Amino acid sequence: MGSGIAQVFAQKSYQVVLCDAVPSQLERAFSTIKKNLNRDLEKNRINAAERDRALSNIQSQSSLEALKGSALVIEAVSEVFDAKQRVFAELDRLCDQATILATNTSSISVTQLAGTTKRPDRVIGMHFMNPVPVMKLVEIIRGLQTSEETFLATRGFVEELDKVPVAVNDSPGFVSNRVLMPMINEAIFCVYESVGTPEAVDAVMKLGMSHPMGPLALADLIGLDVCLNIMETLYAGFSDPKYRPCPLLRKMVAAGSLGRKSGEGFYRYSP
Ligand code: CAA
Repeated sequence: MGSGIAQVFAQKSYQVVLCDAVPSQLERAFSTIKKNLNRDLEKNRINAAERDRALSNIQSQSSLEALKGSALVIEAVSEVFDAKQRVFAELDRLCDQATILATNTSSISVTQLAGTTKRPDRVIGMHFMNPVPVMKLVEIIRGLQTSEETFLATRGFVEELDKVPVAVNDSPGFVSNRVLMPMINEAIFCVYESVGTPEAVDAVMKLGMSHPMGPLALADLIGLDVCLNIMETLYAGFSDPKYRPCPLLRKMVAAGSLGRKSGEGFYRYSP
């Protein structure tokens, strides 16, 4: 998600600092961006100068200090509250007073994250969809204390990316994952209970409901660990058994079958 977000901002002439503590992740992100831009070039969506300009607008850094003077910082670390909180505490300490701290969280409370900073009025959710360069939606989530100024500035950024902002309020899973993830979880239950193979479940949803890809292929694209984390957030947030993660999902994550990123999930992927 981080590389996709960096790419779309760089293509709109923003100076982007792409930050990750692990240098190999930065290399991987940069090569993904290059691959995407080269595909756009081959398809005549951009020219060589635009590709080169976008790439030159991105600098990689392994320290959060490099984000100090940014107008907007979008956090896209693992979907785990403690990990996000640690990054937010560091960003709050390092960044200028005016910097907006956004989170690309898929389900975690923006209000709770904001509450761990000294600038809750300048904390907001900016939830991009995967694959970021293709999907039009950005869910914008106001925390309880998010100011109108922060909301308007964030909405402005999204519009400049030629994406569509949809404002929602802070609640577990927001709208996107409160609706999407139980469907994916139920598709996994269908496999778990031998109602159908992954291919059968996906074919039903693709051919019967005109979904662009089946829920299990989509789970592999999102990452099964992310799906499990989101289900856990819904389950804990609503205390409702209807959000219970499927045991097969837990098992696959425990086994390291995380979908595309690990080479195997409900389907196998070549490196
Ligand atoms: N990065 C950049 N571009 C990509 C891409 C990627 N990872 N994957 C596909 N594309 C582009 C391709 O270049 C292609 O464009 P052209 O044909 O014009 O070159 C276009 O998307 C279509 O790709 P394909 O022909 O390879 O395959 P497709 O028609 O099946 O489309 C898809 C692929 C866009 C992913 C489509 O299947 C789709 O829309 N799937 C659903 C995606 C979805 O639901 N996303 C939301 C997930 S939920 C989420 O992200 C939030 C969360 O919190 C979990």
